[in-house]
Amino acid sequence: MPDTESKSSTIAKRIAPHERLILPLDVPDNAAALALVQQLGDAVTFYKVGLELIIGGEFTRLVDELLRRGKKVMLDGKFFDVPETVRAAVRQAGKHDVTFVTVHGNDEMLRAAVAEKKGGMRILAVTVLTSLDDADLRDLGFQVDVPTLVRSRARRALELGCDGVVCSGQEAEDLRQRTGNQFLIVTPGIRPVKNVDDQKRTVDVEEAFQMGADYIVVGRPIRAAADPKQAAESVQARIARIFA
Ligand code: C5P
Repeated sequence: MPDTESKSSTIAKRIAPHERLILPLDVPDNAAALALVQQLGDAVTFYKVGLELIIGGEFTRLVDELLRRGKKVMLDGKFFDVPETVRAAVRQAGKHDVTFVTVHGNDEMLRAAVAEKKGGMRILAVTVLTSLDDADLRDLGFQVDVPTLVRSRARRALELGCDGVVCSGQEAEDLRQRTGNQFLIVTPGIRPVKNVDDQKRTVDVEEAFQMGADYIVVGRPIRAAADPKQAAESVQARIARIFA
C-alpha cells in the first residue's frame, strides 16, 4: 500500500528510548499493580492495563494513579463490539489521559474508535494475537495464513485512520516495507529464549526493533524474573544500546 493511500495521521516519532518498553500489569488488582509499579520504580515508565485489571475493578483509579506518578498508559481493552459500544468505550477512555487504546475489530469498529479519539490518544488496531498461529486461525474459521491476515488488517486499520497496529515482530518487517514508517508498531510476544508458554510468534528485544517495532510489550519475562527491576533495567539497557 503506498503511503499516499493512507488516511492515517502522520505520527511524529520522537519516542524516548525509555518509553519503548511497555510493561503489562497482568495482575489481579490495583494493590498488586501498584506494588509492582513501586518495585520497578524508574525502570519502567509505560504500563499496559488490560483485561485482568479491567475485570478486577476500579482500573480507572489505577490509570489515574499511574498518570499522577508520571507514567504513560496503554489501555489494552481490545475492544470488539458493535460500533456504537466501541465508540462509547473509547469516549470513556478519553476521560483519562491514556496514550494508547486497542481495538480488535472490523472496519466499522475501527472507524467508530477513530471518531472518538481525542487529545494525545492513539488508536492501535490489534492485527492477529501473538498467541495464535496458522492452525489456530484455521480453527477459528479463517481461510488465510497469519502474515496475510496481519497485512490485510494493518492496511485497513491505517486507511481508516488508526495510528498504528499491534503485531508480532515476525510481521513488523513486512508491514514496514509495505506501509512505510508513518505509523506505530507495538510488538508483544518478546522472549529472550525459545518459548514454552502460550506465545507462539515470539521474537527477542533487538530483533523486534530491527524488524521495525516502535514499542515492545514485555510481561512475563520481567514479572516472573527473580529480580523484576533488574530484568526491566536489563531490557532498558538493551533498548538504549539500540537507539544510542
Ligand atoms: O507476558 P507476556 O510478555 O506474554 O505479555 C504479553 C502481553 O501483551 C499480555 O498482556 C497480552 O494481553 C498482550 N498482547 C499480546 N498479543 C497481542 C496484544 C496484546 O500478547 N496481540
